Amino acid sequence: MPEQRIRKQIHLAAHFPGVNHHTVWTDPESGSQIDFDSFVHLARTAERGLFDFFFLAEGLRLREHLGRVHDLDVVGRPDTFTVLNALAAVTTHLGLAGTINTTYNEPFELAKQFASLDHLSGGRAAWNAVTSSDAFTGENFRRGGYLEHTKRYTRAAEVVDATRALWDSWPADALVVDRENGVFAQPAREVRFSSEQFEIEGEFVLPGSPQGYPVQIQAGDSDEGREFAAAKADVIFSAHGELEDGRRFYADVKDRLAKYGRSREDLKILPAAGFVLGDTPEEARANAQRIRRQQVSPQTAIAFLEQVWGRDLSAYDPDGPLPEIDPVENVNITRGRVRHAKDPRAIAEAWRAKSEAENLSIRELIIETTARPQFIGTPRQVAADIDRHVQTDASDGFVLVPHLTPAGFDEFVEKVVPELQDLGSFRTEYTGSTLRDHLGLRNPHHSTEGVRAS
Ligand SMILES: Cc1cc2nc3c(=O)[nH]c(=O)nc-3n(C[C@H](O)[C@H](O)[C@H](O)COP(=O)(O)O)c2cc1C
Repeated sequence: MPEQRIRKQIHLAAHFPGVNHHTVWTDPESGSQIDFDSFVHLARTAERGLFDFFFLAEGLRLREHLGRVHDLDVVGRPDTFTVLNALAAVTTHLGLAGTINTTYNEPFELAKQFASLDHLSGGRAAWNAVTSSDAFTGENFRRGGYLEHTKRYTRAAEVVDATRALWDSWPADALVVDRENGVFAQPAREVRFSSEQFEIEGEFVLPGSPQGYPVQIQAGDSDEGREFAAAKADVIFSAHGELEDGRRFYADVKDRLAKYGRSREDLKILPAAGFVLGDTPEEARANAQRIRRQQVSPQTAIAFLEQVWGRDLSAYDPDGPLPEIDPVENVNITRGRVRHAKDPRAIAEAWRAKSEAENLSIRELIIETTARPQFIGTPRQVAADIDRHVQTDASDGFVLVPHLTPAGFDEFVEKVVPELQDLGSFRTEYTGSTLRDHLGLRNPHHSTEGVRAS
């Protein structure tokens, strides 16, 4: 018999619309991003679809554009831990991932919050550790924008090491409950953690949680960010969702694992990707075009252009040609957003050339140039496309970003998930109870017992 290669299994996460412009608020089906019902609807749909985890991004300051709150994006979001803990009560298997900043939070507090979520959810917590790139966000905090970008990963690594020291401080069978003679708590070891940023001494307040450590996610893209992920993360949430780019990124970060004594299976790569479905390929393409126009409204098109040009362009017609005036360097035009446009003049040149060659208006150009990776097609095509990315090592799955809240995954779960299952690349039931089980990751404490009854 020919030897059959075991198919790589696809991992899927459900992104609850966060700080982005992908959500289409003009759609009659759009609901609140704040009401608990919305979180419940999206999380339960993802769990019905056997997704690995639910994912919350985070913005610690409302974005501003031209000095005003940028209300074309999602504005306002309840606290991450409050939402995830509440979702733990209305789901049973779905992982619960929160984006929590390492620059503005203290390790002890983070260790307590994530261990609590892991306990309360029965081992489903995940932490996307971000550093934030701008001082603007820092103004909301006591010490302000106090840490320059190059120091942020030093601190991020120290925060993660400190939380791990706290989680490690209770032995796996730390709390022995003896019903006849009362409760004997074997005291936690004293924690002493010393680093450039921290001097921690004391005892942690909770026994080891079901996963040992929550699943560690990382999302930055710089070289320091990739090293940090290779050293410490279980999952990378990446922006490299296109096939070739995805393969390059995948190889780059997986190749970094060996020097940290880790195997290629220890780190899962999940790029962000959207999806648009239709009953026929043509219908899917038409839907995708309609959604892109909704995502890039005339005002959004001008706002994107202003980010590159660094100046107020509100007098320009979004359906007209690009401005003839040159861009100026103005890093503060949009504040609170990760800045991708590094060289405005070069981008403007390229955009001018493109819009002239293809006869594109401002809005048409922005629709094309700001498009994020997305799967477009019939449910079967989308399933096959996702599978191709995974089987050819462009990713280990995806963090899927819907364009509607909260019903954005309804159709995907009903129609695409069965196709993925037919391909043999996606689970037909949850086989474990923790998020580490779903992702095929080891428990660092080699035990799921935090509290043992005798
Ligand atoms: C795909 C992706 C998603 C991100 N999501 C968030 C987020 O939700 N909240 C946040 O504060 N930063 C987010 N970031 C920012 C990064 O975590 C990081 O702070 C920033 O990119 C600077 O690090 P870098 O220089 O390594 O990219 C995200 C970055 C990427 C690439």
